[in-house]
Amino acid sequence: MMLERARFLDAGDPLREFRDRFMLPDGVIYLDGNSLGCLPKATPGRLEEVVREEWGRDLIRSWNTAGWIDLPAHVGAKIAPLIGARPHEVIACDSTSVNLFKLISAALAMQPGRKVVLSEPGNFPTDLYMIDGVERQGLAERRLAERGQLIEALDDSVALLMLTHTHYKTGETFDMAELTRAAHDAGALVLWDLSHSGGALPVDLYGCAADFAVGCGYKYFNGGPGAPAYAFVAEKHLEAARQPLTGWMGHAAPFAFSDDYEAAPGIEKLLCGTPPILGLAALEVGVDLIAEIGIDRLYAKSQALSEFFRQCLSERNVAIDLVSPTDPARRGSQLSFRHQDAYAICQALIARGVIGDFRDPDILRFGFAPAYLRFEDMAEAAQASGRGAGNRRMAARRIPGPGGGHLITIRPAPVGRSPWSRFGQPRCRIRHVFSAWPGCCGRQATYATSLRRAGAA
Ligand SMILES: Cc1ncc(COP(=O)(O)O)c(C=O)c1O
Repeated sequence: MMLERARFLDAGDPLREFRDRFMLPDGVIYLDGNSLGCLPKATPGRLEEVVREEWGRDLIRSWNTAGWIDLPAHVGAKIAPLIGARPHEVIACDSTSVNLFKLISAALAMQPGRKVVLSEPGNFPTDLYMIDGVERQGLAERRLAERGQLIEALDDSVALLMLTHTHYKTGETFDMAELTRAAHDAGALVLWDLSHSGGALPVDLYGCAADFAVGCGYKYFNGGPGAPAYAFVAEKHLEAARQPLTGWMGHAAPFAFSDDYEAAPGIEKLLCGTPPILGLAALEVGVDLIAEIGIDRLYAKSQALSEFFRQCLSERNVAIDLVSPTDPARRGSQLSFRHQDAYAICQALIARGVIGDFRDPDILRFGFAPAYLRFEDMAEAAQASGRGAGNRRMAARRIPGPGGGHLITIRPAPVGRSPWSRFGQPRCRIRHVFSAWPGCCGRQATYATSLRRAGAA
């Protein structure tokens, strides 16, 4: 019944034609676009053109003739309207981690007499590690406060409030306007990590008067593995902001080859080394596609998809705790569930072609990239989840192992339908045991490798 309803919803979906603009492998329901977005069909052709013509034929001239030198700012300007920024405020470069380091340092240098960088426990690890890195240089002091206490923790020692807009595990979003205002009232600057928001939900950096932001290019922007990230500096800070990675590409005149560093006046000052042209070219294709679809339409569909997925789960009486907010307006484009066997369920689902992901210790995470997912995918994923979480034949146990790892035991699907059979495993009810700690051996390692080879893990 849910499948029928799903097909009805798909038929009326104004975004349905965009699914065909992505390469989607047969037999896979991809609920991990919040980790690595799908490949746009236009990307291989564009890369071929950059490689064969711009690099192969035109060689070094392409820095000018193909506009390579301007590509970071050019792609940044295309990302800008999708995150509520102005074109000259965004640049595509480096990784999110590196951009965090640059902007934490820049913000601290603008706040003499204040050293505290305030964030929340459980923020994405790299965000916290990057504060640590600056702290180890004696330039920052890390302070963490639970989300409900952040505003209270904003005293006159806080230089920077640094938060991830959509939480990577729970999907809960912060009220960007409220927290930015509170930080400014306390004399602090604000740096937003938009990795799980950009390309999926509306963000209004300008409207919220945000100071700095960063985000990933390989998630909802579909820029490909290791795609360049993006960084935002509000116009009001473009002149004062100084970042510490003073490489030649951020120089006001890189080709003057002067002995002394002089930062570029605009957003280009965030550059460090030579930009990765292939990565930027692929990212541009992904960004163009998201811009063509439009953030508001994507957001509307993402909310509809996740709500429909919840309905499908409840229709099937799947007992699994939602840790994302129930109000779709308070979450990003994902749903996360807590289950003691989350890792095993996740692996079992992957083996059935439903790719979501697991976040330690017990979170099962499904991302709903609205550009290419169908309601039918929701109905089928919910059906498979029901089997994974509730079916005794898929029951899994987690046993604590050495070094903080754990053993998982899974009893696979019924004889004749074993998802493992395609890896050459016998089609019978044996118990498959594999390990989640490094250095596992024998059949455990073989299992993990076979999943990986099949592109499933
Ligand atoms: C919220 C958040 N910030 C930062 C990162 C890391 O970005 P990068 O690998 O580009 O440094 C991730 C990666 O998943 C993330 O989810």
